[in-house]
Amino acid sequence: MNILHLDSSITGENSASRALSAAIVRKLADADPSADIRYRDLVEAPFDHLTLPGYATGQSQEALGEFLAADTIVIGATMYNFTISTQLKAWLDRVLVAGQTFRYTENGPQGLAGGKRVFVALARGGLYGEDTPLRELEHAERYLRTVLNFIGIADPVFVIAEGLALGEMEREGAMQLAQRRIAALWQDNLVH
Ligand SMILES: Cc1cc2nc3c(=O)[nH]c(=O)nc-3n(C[C@H](O)[C@H](O)[C@H](O)COP(=O)(O)O)c2cc1C
Repeated sequence: MNILHLDSSITGENSASRALSAAIVRKLADADPSADIRYRDLVEAPFDHLTLPGYATGQSQEALGEFLAADTIVIGATMYNFTISTQLKAWLDRVLVAGQTFRYTENGPQGLAGGKRVFVALARGGLYGEDTPLRELEHAERYLRTVLNFIGIADPVFVIAEGLALGEMEREGAMQLAQRRIAALWQDNLVH
């Protein structure tokens, strides 16, 4: 197994998404101790905002190559200002490349990255679940599902910790719930 592990939170050791992405990678590594794990901290070593010449740089090609080589991708993601961090967006800008991860056909766009397993550990300060008043403002999970689906990853696994900004108890409860979801993914054989 080739795992690509990414983090994109700016809060370092206090980050909920970093803790959860690491927990997912631990589970994957436990299940396959021979797994090759490549780690990218998109905040420590950020990609520049995309420019036209930027597409062709070695850095961009390396990011795309790493993505293509991985069969399992674990993304630590955060909600900042209702969407993902700019660091994660800059990485995605290197990965959504016509002719590599998608192409346009007579029948519309076709994803070329199907077959990869993708886990997203997403942390949100507020509550954005179905039937919540803020649901319509949710552009992090929704955006990530859109781009992943677009390149052929139909069923990314989301582990979401939310309500983290509502208080200490709420944060603790949300993190426990997310950790239980991670455990359940493996206990219930939902991960293949
Ligand atoms: C700059 C910034 C913007 C944020 N914007 C939002 C937001 O729009 N909606 C929300 O629910 N939480 C927001 N939050 C709270 C984060 O989503 C929350 O702290 C989450 O835990 C961040 O992930 P992390 O713990 O991995 O850093 C924001 C936090 C920061 C630092």
